[in-house]
Amino acid sequence: KQKMILDLDTGIDDALAIAYAVASPEADLIGILSSYGNVVVERSAKNSLRILDLLGASDVPVFLGESHSVVTDHFDVMPISAQIHGKNGIGEVAVAESSRAIESESAVDFIIDAAHKYKQDLILVPTGPLTNLAAAIRKDPSIVKEIGKVVLMGGALTVPGNVTDAAEANINQDAVSANEVFTAGLNLTMVGLDVTLRTLLTRKETQQWRDLHTKAGDAFADIVDFYIKAYEITSPGLNGCALHDPLAVGVALMPDLVTTLPLNMIVETEGTTWGRTTGDANRLNEPSTDQASLTVDADRFLNLFMTRLSKLFEE
Ligand code: BDR
Ligand code: CA
Repeated sequence: KQKMILDLDTGIDDALAIAYAVASPEADLIGILSSYGNVVVERSAKNSLRILDLLGASDVPVFLGESHSVVTDHFDVMPISAQIHGKNGIGEVAVAESSRAIESESAVDFIIDAAHKYKQDLILVPTGPLTNLAAAIRKDPSIVKEIGKVVLMGGALTVPGNVTDAAEANINQDAVSANEVFTAGLNLTMVGLDVTLRTLLTRKETQQWRDLHTKAGDAFADIVDFYIKAYEITSPGLNGCALHDPLAVGVALMPDLVTTLPLNMIVETEGTTWGRTTGDANRLNEPSTDQASLTVDADRFLNLFMTRLSKLFEE
């Protein structure tokens, strides 16, 4: 089993990423880090705890991450995030709060400790801003060569961003940290909008969860129906909601779900192109450690996703 750490701004699709990781026999989920983004960082941590409890995975520890980007001293949730994920981050659904506490070790220190302990067996899956990972690398650069791989949801190479034409939401939050992560020399795979916008869930699937008549099935159906409704307003052409964050977990465990382009990447940190993920013109002829996902076997992933989550929600 692969040791997996998720770094989430939970968040509806982040909650689906938790469910997919918990439901996957290939993964040993050793911890969840929290990030600001869809909600503030404390809410993100508490949402991860309550989702883990709902899924019967109350043994997974949750760590508090950085509360804002390196270029700001404060974080406010964007109105669009509240519209898409709900003010509470999980579609205004009243999932019981957890009685468990957030760990006292910081998310940054947990990354460093886990990298030293598990080395190449460790997979890190960030599906929010990259502030925690960049901070960990700054504190202990030796982790770059220790961590087995980083598979992140963020960025866009062949399509425009979803916050600005240049920037996808996770990268937009902290392009400076993202650039540090993309250029660090990690074994990194970007799972960006190029593939996540092709991997969609509809009301047909949430109805299948509802038909299970279980607490987890009902809660996830309500949460995801909120997300689908928001997508109908913000992206009427799409006919469903994007499985951004769970796809990153899927690719981390089964890399052949996507085809990738090996490319040394950078993130632009200035002017109107802030947050754009692109190739580094100065390093095109150097061996690359980064890979950008370009195409996805969406049917195969959707099948895996539905089979695994339905089984998990049945229990
Ligand atoms: C990403 O932004 C967040 O709102 C989602 O959770 C996802 O990680 C999509 O751009
Ligand atoms: Ca997210």
